[in-house]
Amino acid sequence: MTYARITGTGGHLPDKVLTNHDLERMVDTSDDWIRERTGISKRHIAVDGETTCDLAEQASRRALEAAGRTADEIDLVIVATTTPDQIFPSTACLLQQRLGIHGCAAFDIQAVCTGFVYALGVADKFVRTGSASCVLVVGAETLSRIVDWTDRSTCVLFGDGAGAVVLEASEEPGIISAHLHADGDYESLLRVPGGVSKGYDLVQEGGAYMEMKGNEVFKMAVTTLGRIVDETLEANGLEKSDIDWLIPHQANIRIINATARKLRMSTERVVVTVGEHGNTSAASVPLALDQAVRDGRVKRGETILMEAFGGGFTWGSVLLKY
Ligand code: UT7
Repeated sequence: MTYARITGTGGHLPDKVLTNHDLERMVDTSDDWIRERTGISKRHIAVDGETTCDLAEQASRRALEAAGRTADEIDLVIVATTTPDQIFPSTACLLQQRLGIHGCAAFDIQAVCTGFVYALGVADKFVRTGSASCVLVVGAETLSRIVDWTDRSTCVLFGDGAGAVVLEASEEPGIISAHLHADGDYESLLRVPGGVSKGYDLVQEGGAYMEMKGNEVFKMAVTTLGRIVDETLEANGLEKSDIDWLIPHQANIRIINATARKLRMSTERVVVTVGEHGNTSAASVPLALDQAVRDGRVKRGETILMEAFGGGFTWGSVLLKY
């Protein structure tokens, strides 16, 4: 049996840091409120001209180096992003060009904060069916570009960054299962209403920015992530105690803690980056994985549960042996 196994991870954050105290000077908020309600103390923001592909390139180069692979060995590129550099080519194609990869399939996945989990699930299918053997899977965002910096209810939450993994065919597990879901009925709770097909007038009237009914999204996120944990354990006949690490999407420390409680996991077994990164959407899970791999917390052979929830709504999980 062929599995898809992560052989290298990489991450990259823009140099520019925006602290809660910086935000206090921009909107009616406070460091105390942001920390208490979200767990966030700072986030990284791309400067003018710094794009999603720039961040993705740095994270990808680090992942390739960690995997001991060169770009020409990659036979599929998938980039999860909600903030592509341009309408087309896809960010995956732009990244392919940057890395000097030619000819293999390359495409973007748009599932907002669940993007990386979706991308990993899709890449797993390519590897298991023999359609690819060395895949670059990236989650990269410049969320700051779609944030309304005058809206205190959203602007304190988000940040920019990129994370990447190299996923290779292996006899050893590997990704054990991926569980992907969506329900478009909840569009009005979390969205950027403007877009290409609706025309640029809406974008110019302010529709280019994120709108969120935070409280309702919060409640849905907590219950839905609880369900996805149960679904993943049940599908694999596992007990909660079989999970070594929870690597959750980093939206809010209170949502992360609720899922950890459901798994009866101590906080030491949960990788948390939200305090320093904010919510980087599709980049949050691979950035957290990379951090925990590089600082030696996550070790080969350990069982990891990744989960995410975001606009769509989309939600999902990936269970894997690292
Ligand atoms: O990535 C996937 C999707 N996103 C999420 O998962 C985010 C989910 N939602 C959340 O994380 C939380 O709902 C928020 C952090 C966005 C908000 O926290 P909350 O505890 O749900 O607060 P709230 O929206 O119920 O607002 C409470 C109060 C309100 O004031 P009143 O009406 O009680 O007077 C808000 O106006 O806090 C006020 N408020 C703020 N105060 C200071 C809202 N934003 C701020 C702010 N600073 N930045």
